[in-house]
Amino acid sequence: MSEESLSHDHHTFPADPAFAAQANGTAEMYAAAEADPEGFWAAQARERITWAKDFETTLDWSGAPFAKWFIGGELNAAYNCVDRHVENGNGDRVAIHFEGEPGDTRTVTYADLHREVCKAANALESLGLGKGDTVAIYLPMIPEAVVAMLACARIGAPHSVVFGGFSAEALNTRINDAQCKLVITADGGYRRGNPSALKPAVDAALDHAQTTVEKVVVIRRTGQDVAWNDSRDVWWDDVVAPAAETHEAVAHDSEHPLFILYTSGTTGKPKGIFHTTGGYLTQAAYTNAIVHDVHPETDLYWCTADIGWVTGHSYIVYGPLANGATQLLYEGTPDTPHQGRWWELIQKYGVTILYTAPTAVRTFMKWGHDIPEKFDLSSLRVLGSVGEPINPEAWLWYRKYIGGDRCPIVDTWWQTETGAIMISPLPGVTTLEPGSAQKPIPGVNAQILDDEGKPFTEAERVGYLVLTKPWPSMLRGIWGDPERYRQTYWSRFGPEYYFAGDGAKYDKDGNIWLLGRVDDVMNVSGHRMSTAEIESALVSHPRVAEAAVVGASDEMTGQAIVAFVILRMDHDDEAEHLDGDALVKELRNHVAKEIGPIAKPRTIMVVSELPKTRSGKIMRRLLKDVAEGREIGDVTTLADSSVMNLIKDGLGAGGDEG
Ligand code: PRX
Repeated sequence: MSEESLSHDHHTFPADPAFAAQANGTAEMYAAAEADPEGFWAAQARERITWAKDFETTLDWSGAPFAKWFIGGELNAAYNCVDRHVENGNGDRVAIHFEGEPGDTRTVTYADLHREVCKAANALESLGLGKGDTVAIYLPMIPEAVVAMLACARIGAPHSVVFGGFSAEALNTRINDAQCKLVITADGGYRRGNPSALKPAVDAALDHAQTTVEKVVVIRRTGQDVAWNDSRDVWWDDVVAPAAETHEAVAHDSEHPLFILYTSGTTGKPKGIFHTTGGYLTQAAYTNAIVHDVHPETDLYWCTADIGWVTGHSYIVYGPLANGATQLLYEGTPDTPHQGRWWELIQKYGVTILYTAPTAVRTFMKWGHDIPEKFDLSSLRVLGSVGEPINPEAWLWYRKYIGGDRCPIVDTWWQTETGAIMISPLPGVTTLEPGSAQKPIPGVNAQILDDEGKPFTEAERVGYLVLTKPWPSMLRGIWGDPERYRQTYWSRFGPEYYFAGDGAKYDKDGNIWLLGRVDDVMNVSGHRMSTAEIESALVSHPRVAEAAVVGASDEMTGQAIVAFVILRMDHDDEAEHLDGDALVKELRNHVAKEIGPIAKPRTIMVVSELPKTRSGKIMRRLLKDVAEGREIGDVTTLADSSVMNLIKDGLGAGGDEG
């Protein structure tokens, strides 16, 4: 939306007093956190988490940028997410209403979850897994995914969940980097009405001479035939069903690694972001309480993310379960079997809190408001948004057609690295400004810096978002690469600023507006993709000599992947006969095979040259101009300024996704 149309129709939404009267978040929290940040976080940790041993020191920042939180404390994350709710008499409360894509359903109470997690923990131990061993989880959105994560947490084995849409290649890289000892997968999952296999990707990922993986545990979901390796593969049912139903949740150190989650950075190699137990769980539970305003006794919460992403970790598994909430877990896509499926589910379960991504909202806008209007959405009381900026138009549509003009919308800014929500309005407290994530939550401190690293507060000036104080759920590093951690996050503006990689500005009311990545990371439908990773996937194809990838703005997906490739002249391979559209198709499939279908470029343009500076750096800015159909910007630093004309003239040779 343009700034003009926004200012014509500028509308803010003050908190509704009735909502405020019951809200978990309060205005006083800001002042309390500001007056004594560590005291504030210590209080949150003690109020929301059950510690087997209380911590002695809240924060140790003496080894900055390597933080330690709640030092001396001991806890078990699975105990906090499951056992204590059963002990408190809430074993009959539903933890998960599961709705499979084919329409199969399951109801999992906290007592059921407790039994399943204990059995799975016993089973994993019987396979030789112990504290500190790493486990890859490659699963569809089924309750066993939650059980598997919690079973790992229980025994102190850090999990590395790999999104089920990633390819065998991507899975292989992640398994090797984290040196996983075990993989938990399924025969398959359901996708748009059909079973889709998962196990073959695991087989292919492990089909290398050297792997640290000893066992693969396979959950039966679709009943598909699977290839079987007798010495390595075991059925989940064969080890979990007979396992004992009790398991002692030994407490782990507050700083014991809870999980690793890979995310794209500015180089081709994904970063293994790792989080530890006490601080992460504290902030996940705290934010789920004050931002989503979860009231575990009465709410029916639904986060539509996949557990393969950080949103699924913090806001399907750890936050809501630590709070003892009841949630919906849905396996499928919004358009199967029809475009009203989500609204049908909200009506069926009486969902009260919905947390989703702007790309989904924009898709629903395109499908038309008459679809949600056919359903009763009156149970909803809070709406959330995450993953990318939500444009004011989409925000207003979301409020009107999904939120019945009454639900507060929380636009939550955070990252895999931050572990939990950092910037967001508080429902019942903040006067909402459509399109802005507004303010750091109580306990979090952010600033906007200029190119020289000087903080400023003028309105409408664009700068870089930084975080200025450590926070409990901050990443503790990049798995196996402390130097990259320091370099990536704590060097751009000096060691006292965490550089988030996002551009931002203030408006005249002091609200923060996030403006997208300022590095070579793209955001496609709320998923982080690195230009370098896709470029290296493209050049691994025998026909490609060179590739440059840019994120072009896209109405639906926020950004779309656009690739420019130079073909090899000396090719001599089976793809040789391919030309034009067939070649573009082949290259798109090749990227899907190397990384996953989500990384397929929307557009691939075959060009004869790429614009480079005299030092040989590709000028993506100019390619972005081409990709977005703009007048091409300043070309004076190009080594050969005629290149851009060549590219523009040759644009017929590319192809878009059909
Ligand atoms: O660019 C920001 C964008 O998503 C990036 C983090 O991506 P990831 O680690 O995959 O985590 C996504 C889910 C937390 C950020 O650097 N981003 C996330 N939320 C927002 C956002 N941009 C604008 N507004 C948001 N609410």
